[in-house]
Amino acid sequence: GIRLNRICCIGAGYVGGPTMATIALKCPQLEVVIVDMNEDRINRWNSDDLPIYEPGLPEVVKACRGKNLFFSTDVKKGIEESDIIFASVNTPTKTQGVGKGRAADLRYIESVGRTIAQYANRSKIVIEKSTVPIKTAEAIARVLSANETANGGHKNFWILSNPEFLAEGTAMKDLDEPDRVLIGGQEQDAIMVLADIYANWVPRDRILMTNLWSSELSKLVANAMLAQRVSSINSISRLCERTGADVKEVARAIGTDSRIGPKFLNASVGFGGSCFQKDILNLVYICQQFGLDEVASYWQQVVDMNDHQKSAFTGKIIQSLFNTVTKKKIAILGFAFKKDTGDVRETPALMVCDMLMKDGGLVYVYDPKVLIEDALTEFKYHEIEVNTDQFIFSKSPEEACEGAHAIVVLTEWDEFKTYDYKKFYDKMMKPAFLFDGRNMLDHAELEKIGFEVHALGKGTGSSQRSKSPDFVMRASSGLLPSGGY
Ligand code: NAI
Repeated sequence: GIRLNRICCIGAGYVGGPTMATIALKCPQLEVVIVDMNEDRINRWNSDDLPIYEPGLPEVVKACRGKNLFFSTDVKKGIEESDIIFASVNTPTKTQGVGKGRAADLRYIESVGRTIAQYANRSKIVIEKSTVPIKTAEAIARVLSANETANGGHKNFWILSNPEFLAEGTAMKDLDEPDRVLIGGQEQDAIMVLADIYANWVPRDRILMTNLWSSELSKLVANAMLAQRVSSINSISRLCERTGADVKEVARAIGTDSRIGPKFLNASVGFGGSCFQKDILNLVYICQQFGLDEVASYWQQVVDMNDHQKSAFTGKIIQSLFNTVTKKKIAILGFAFKKDTGDVRETPALMVCDMLMKDGGLVYVYDPKVLIEDALTEFKYHEIEVNTDQFIFSKSPEEACEGAHAIVVLTEWDEFKTYDYKKFYDKMMKPAFLFDGRNMLDHAELEKIGFEVHALGKGTGSSQRSKSPDFVMRASSGLLPSGGY
């Protein structure tokens, strides 16, 4: 007697909101309710001021809300009325106790299990949408089966793993046309229920089915491999800076190898976001638990390299500004961890600004979407004290740059490419520095204006040098060793 036309999602965040809005849009025959215990968040989902910024999301929410998409704080009712329940709650890194700083904090996912057990009136399909450590399905199953007869009568719970691969900033497109959908489970019937939902818009051959543990682990591995690419190219950017190679040229040269591929090879100030670091640390922790110390330290290096990149980048700023930024105004362009999102969780801007402020700098931030409150919350979460005389949000890039000693680009927002940097330059202190933490601006142009440009993975001033080649390497001259890889 399972009713398959109603879906409930617990957790109305960056994943739950866009994912369920897409299901509602693509499956008008289904009714989707998203519940969350955070009343403020639910109120905003029900208003014109959605709690997250994601291109394309407002249109989809508007099209479906009140028809087959609902947002509510009534978790109990959501569970009772739906037989397919997604758990899309947060799974942050533990901040205390066993596994502190590495292990996933599963209190929210566990509480979802307990809440479902408490209110489930019939058998249900429970789907892990959150990113969880391998074997979490087993823990949820235990919580559920230990409480199977709560509310009277025997019930079945089928547990599926269905990790989400969307990226913030492109979530709606990623959901609309996923590279793949991954479903892990033990019972074929339950797997097919979920596969049939996705098949409303995803080609069947992109719906991968695996066992539970492969599915759970694949999500951690996907994020670990993506982050590893970033740390790998970043490590090379450091070497480029010392040797005269240009990391952009290196990235292009290796990215055209089809085995390597061109994506995710931009050197930058470092990766951020709520997922990469937490998922790798989680992977490290799991490996350690199984006694796989070498495997653990291999992946730990990806995080260590990222921390190094952030501090090396900031160190270069301070060093270039004659070894001190005390009382110097520094314009920060971009605080979000990437473009097209207002999300600041684990943004590299945090460490950069913190280091600059600890050196006495006056940090003026301009970001098209980030609110200062959210930035301050993130500092607080990391137990970093911020003096608000030193940390100021500007209403415009002009305001941030006026009288500044340096411009530091930390997020790759498209609009940063369109600014009139000559105007900024005219009102800056001289020498005027520009540090491009995303390698996104036209450095030769900026140098022509008069900036001292520091690009990632490139020696200073090299953008002009590279325009006037002193020698031409003749590939066919026979001077190169043959067959050399
Ligand atoms: P989030 O923090 O934005 O949203 C989680 C929501 O769950 C919060 O609004 C919270 O109030 C709610 N919640 C927690 N416990 C609850 C309970 N017992 N009952 C009702 N509501 C509860 O988190 P986000 O970013 O959506 O991430 C969710 C999961 O998805 C995480 O495991 C994350 O690793 C994973 N993920 C995140 C991606 C991202 O880009 N943010 C991408 C892919 C996966």
